[in-house]
Amino acid sequence: AQHAERQRILDTLRLSRAQLLEVKNRMSEEMVRGLTKQTHEQASVKMLPTYVRSTPDGTEHGDYLALDLGGSSFRVLLVKVRSGKRCNVDMHHKIYSIPQETMQGTGEELFNHIVDCIADFLEYMGMKGASLPLGFTFSFPCDQSRLDQGILLKWTKGFKASGCEGQDVVTLLKDAVRRRQEFDLNFVAVVNDTVGTMMTCGYEDPKCEVGLIVGTGTNVCYMEEMQNIELVEGEDGRMCVNIEWGAFGDSGELDDYCTQFDHTVDECSNNPGKQRYEKMISGMYLGEIVRNVLIDFTAKGLLFRGKLSPRLKTRGIFETKFLSQIEKDRLAMRQVRSILQHLGLTKSTCEDSVLVKEVCSVVARRAAQLCGAGLAAVVEKMRQNRNLNQLSVTVGVDGTLYKTHPHFASIMQETLQDLAPQCQVTFHKSEDGSGKGAALITAVACRVKSGGQ
Ligand code: BG6
Ligand code: GLC
Repeated sequence: AQHAERQRILDTLRLSRAQLLEVKNRMSEEMVRGLTKQTHEQASVKMLPTYVRSTPDGTEHGDYLALDLGGSSFRVLLVKVRSGKRCNVDMHHKIYSIPQETMQGTGEELFNHIVDCIADFLEYMGMKGASLPLGFTFSFPCDQSRLDQGILLKWTKGFKASGCEGQDVVTLLKDAVRRRQEFDLNFVAVVNDTVGTMMTCGYEDPKCEVGLIVGTGTNVCYMEEMQNIELVEGEDGRMCVNIEWGAFGDSGELDDYCTQFDHTVDECSNNPGKQRYEKMISGMYLGEIVRNVLIDFTAKGLLFRGKLSPRLKTRGIFETKFLSQIEKDRLAMRQVRSILQHLGLTKSTCEDSVLVKEVCSVVARRAAQLCGAGLAAVVEKMRQNRNLNQLSVTVGVDGTLYKTHPHFASIMQETLQDLAPQCQVTFHKSEDGSGKGAALITAVACRVKSGGQ
């Protein structure tokens, strides 16, 4: 009876093929609504124009600074791009931490901190006083009407510094540079991490026209036909669109699939009611879903002998790394138990370990399938845009969950292939982060600015 009860609960987290197909179809509809002037405002998926009009062509060159803010680590980079040969990039970077208080303090504090880090980096590189062009990977939804401006629409993930929403992040950064009165920066581009990733991978693979992030958050960008982007003038060629698909579901599109656990995770988050799709997929939330399932099981006496430890009640104990570790194939139950012990869940039996592993696997599978269903909508749209019977395309991917989880990538691909059989999709894991891509975008912008080809 206990077994049946557990399975009944886990079944609410399992999606059928028909349901996944429905997710794909709803995503397709929302993408069109986001691109269309009349419906853009109400659309949950914002389809933000990025002003990036082409993928790299190998002629980019020069030295650039790049910032990479919004993933699990904040980085300042120096990127040296040499023209002539493709893939000729030299990079130096330093990782800086952003304390929780700074992420959630005032905007001034956050941007002061970023500028402190830039100053430290310039000093570290022996480049004090240099004023290089800078590309800013800023992994949040921004309304852009030019490449070098980005109005922050809303914070997502763990950030909520005050006074930034509705402001141009380049201006906020410039103001902080001015306050410090020590050096000057030459801002050229604001770039979403999906776009940076697409460009990083596009430098090596010209077929890379999609960027996917499955990390702290999740999102996708892709090359869309200009004629379909009603918010931008002009009909010719293509432009990269930042879908901001994490917000899919914010108008109720996922209500049929959300479980009580999803509701709890949403309610206890920084941004209730927002980023509903992201909260079912990305690293920042999967562990919380698992934790809530385990709490429910324990409360019902189906786990840990019904004893709810204070540790289990602690938010954020299941990091992405745990989800990836626990699902490693051939991991003996003994090791699962030691992971649980490490988490402070000491009184577990072997049966408990089996169940915890099953919960992790059900939650991660659903995430990967949902992600695959969304991606199917994207590549299918590209295929139809181009009137092709078969589309062959590369997706550049980054993010800790995607890169470290033993099954996420394969389940996602399986779903994608099933739901978009006319698309041949290759995945290219980004090893260099999105800072490199941001520098390449900056390089192209500098070339255009100076009137070169
Ligand atoms: C990094 C990119 O490698 O991946 C970042 O450079 C991006 O721009 C990040 O945000 C996403 O992964 P995570 O797991 O750090 O959120
Ligand atoms: C969040 C952000 C989005 C970013 C994604 C991945 O969804 O809103 O801009 O691309 O996380 O980092």
